[in-house]
Amino acid sequence: MHKKLTISSIKNSKGVKPLVMITAYDALFASLLEESADMILVGDSLNMSFAGKSDTISATLEQMIYHTNAVCRGAKNSFVICDMPFGTYTNAKSALSNAIKVFQQTPADCVKIEGGKDKAQVVKHLTDNGVAVCGHIGLLPQSVRSEGGYKVKGKTEEEKIQLLKDAKAIEKAGAFCIVIEGVKAEVAKEVAESVGVPVIGIGAGVDVDGQVLVFSDMLGLFEAFTPKFVKKYMDGASLVREAVGNYANEVLNKEFPKEEHTY
Ligand code: KIV
Repeated sequence: MHKKLTISSIKNSKGVKPLVMITAYDALFASLLEESADMILVGDSLNMSFAGKSDTISATLEQMIYHTNAVCRGAKNSFVICDMPFGTYTNAKSALSNAIKVFQQTPADCVKIEGGKDKAQVVKHLTDNGVAVCGHIGLLPQSVRSEGGYKVKGKTEEEKIQLLKDAKAIEKAGAFCIVIEGVKAEVAKEVAESVGVPVIGIGAGVDVDGQVLVFSDMLGLFEAFTPKFVKKYMDGASLVREAVGNYANEVLNKEFPKEEHTY
């Protein structure tokens, strides 16, 4: 069993060892993932892969609190990040009152919020009041409707400059680590080199301080769509279908239960 990471050990890992982050939404998967993950993210992506919605926008704080508690029960030895859902951090005051709910109602170690320079004041207000914050810059899934889709960032000089400003602003505001999503690899590298806190990539190339993937993507369980950056480490969907198909056949043929499964 590995030692649970702290904010300082996460910060100190920069330049020493890449950080492994993975999402989880329930106690069962959290308990399976915790051995290999440094940090578990209860992402609002659960609204898609767990709740079957088409984007993350309708995830609620209550949902995030419910799933964060489940994950913390399953992975007692892990550093757990609770994603703040859309609309819960539009200004510093509402962000703090919602983050306090997360901290008082779950054992989460920090919250994650999407946004760069525009959210620096919110990050500062949270960190000034004892709420640790993981930032999230680049492609922001909560902006999917306003941006008209999921758009890779860092393709132009202006976007690169903006990303560098975003990372610096939220680091200055107190974020202890930053997720960078859907960004050209060479730009993500520059961003990671420009700040003193770990930058964790998803669809941002290898030259950052760690990686995060959505567990249902990397286990091949989520089939609705597969972004280019996802590597499927197993074909979970086929394995599940095959197992359930075998069970169904055995039930139909009266081959299950056998003697050893019977009282
Ligand atoms: O919600 C989520 O799972 C995330 C990751 C994509 C980083 O924010």
